[in-house]
Amino acid sequence: MTVSPAESTPWWKSAVFYQVYPRSFADSDGDGVGDLGGIRERLGYLEQLGVDALWICPVMRSPMADGGYDVADPRDIDPLFGGLAAMEELIAAAHERRIRVTMDLVPNHTSSEHAWFRAALAAGPGSPERARYIFRDGRGADGSEPPNNWPSIFRGPAWTRIVEPDGRPGQWYLHIFAAEQPDLNWENPDVVADFEQTLRFWLDRGVDGFRIDVAHGMAKPPGLPDMAKVDTKMLVHDDHDPRFNNPGVHDIHRRIRKVIDEYPGAVSIGEVWVDDNVRFGEYVRPDELHLAFNFRLAETSFEAADIRDAVENSLAAVAPVGATPTWTLSNHDIEREVTRYGGGAPGVARARAMALLELALPGVVFVYNGAELGLPNVDDLPDEVLQDPVWERSGHTERGRDGCRVPLPWSGTAPPFGFTGGEQSWLPIPAEWADRTVEAQLAQPGSVLALYRTALELRRTRPEFAADGLEWLDGNADTVTVRRPGGLTCVLNASNAPIALPEGELLLASGPLADGALPPDTAAWLV
Ligand code: NOJ
Repeated sequence: MTVSPAESTPWWKSAVFYQVYPRSFADSDGDGVGDLGGIRERLGYLEQLGVDALWICPVMRSPMADGGYDVADPRDIDPLFGGLAAMEELIAAAHERRIRVTMDLVPNHTSSEHAWFRAALAAGPGSPERARYIFRDGRGADGSEPPNNWPSIFRGPAWTRIVEPDGRPGQWYLHIFAAEQPDLNWENPDVVADFEQTLRFWLDRGVDGFRIDVAHGMAKPPGLPDMAKVDTKMLVHDDHDPRFNNPGVHDIHRRIRKVIDEYPGAVSIGEVWVDDNVRFGEYVRPDELHLAFNFRLAETSFEAADIRDAVENSLAAVAPVGATPTWTLSNHDIEREVTRYGGGAPGVARARAMALLELALPGVVFVYNGAELGLPNVDDLPDEVLQDPVWERSGHTERGRDGCRVPLPWSGTAPPFGFTGGEQSWLPIPAEWADRTVEAQLAQPGSVLALYRTALELRRTRPEFAADGLEWLDGNADTVTVRRPGGLTCVLNASNAPIALPEGELLLASGPLADGALPPDTAAWLV
């Protein structure tokens, strides 16, 4: 997509990105796994939903040990998703509808099936092949202890011992995630050069930017010191965790940014699990990432004080460096918002209210596929279908993230609900989702899908959303009321009783009013 030089505001400044988890969005070839052809066939749906851009989770060649975040060849598309031609077709077809396409790149690690890692195993200790990864001798007299005490994010140790080519027990390699995801050594020039080649490869094919996986990873601390306190929570953001957020990461981002700047209009979005506002802001300085995910809103309860705190801190983190705020309620790693807010009808009502609040805020919004259908987590998947490496690595004590990755229901009255022409989807879709299919919701004026479509259209077209900035209006302690400089007011009622609406003309409410008042678990837009 060409960007006119006269366009002074970048396209992404207030964009709504739709996150596609490709295996779960739509299947075009009947194998039960979503693919790029499925996305292409549903572009009309996405256009009508009103999103500006797609973020497509990794579709590069992968043995799928971690749903594609284990990349064996970063410059090819996995046949499961349709191969390179399918990606090229999707980019062209999306651009025809004025939808931008961003891809997910994984710089922190490769797959253990990547040619480099295989070569590293075959070459001996001290070889240039090993130097692209983080191999170390073990501790203890016979080297049988891991080099340090770091745990893997997916449970168990972050080190695996290899068998050397001569058959003897050998060195250990670092994997912050699964054993099939060896960490790269970003101090090695081959690693830097190869990533730059990958960026150019996709930008030359017309992609509009990248989501960068574990963008606070990559740089490792000198000497790989032990962790002071071993914490095994998933994606924690402990700012003192030596595995993440090391100062050297910023040079890496500056190098990435230089390449991206060769392609006007291209955007980079980092996955940055960093709590401290100052340190978070460092990632979005003018010569680093354009945007970074702020997960505060996705982590907050449905309590007015917590929501206000999340919004204030997300704004405060980017303001000093002049970057754009970002908002998200869910993604493929976290429990879906309907479930987080209590599930059932109250969970859906609160998710609707939070969607209106999120879409009223200045900046960029990321909508995770299925959020627009009000899908809950599926927490009773049969054990035998679970695929998240966390399930195995935790010794079957933690079920992992599959519950938020169940395929989307499109049409019909029984699973697989038009998701696939085959008999089964890769994770089973609950039969109760019959009333949540796209088809059913298109026929219901009050559906979650209808709310999203209306909200996105108003956000895109009404002048009240145009100017950045946010002012807090006084309300009671259990409400959140914000006003944009253009004249939009958003009020969210997290209390137990109806409240009077603020002054203004009602533009949209997330649920029916009660005698002109805003009921609990409901939000409204007024101008
Ligand atoms: C973050 C991704 O969002 C997650 O799905 C993945 O498992 C890890 N990074 C490792 O790549």
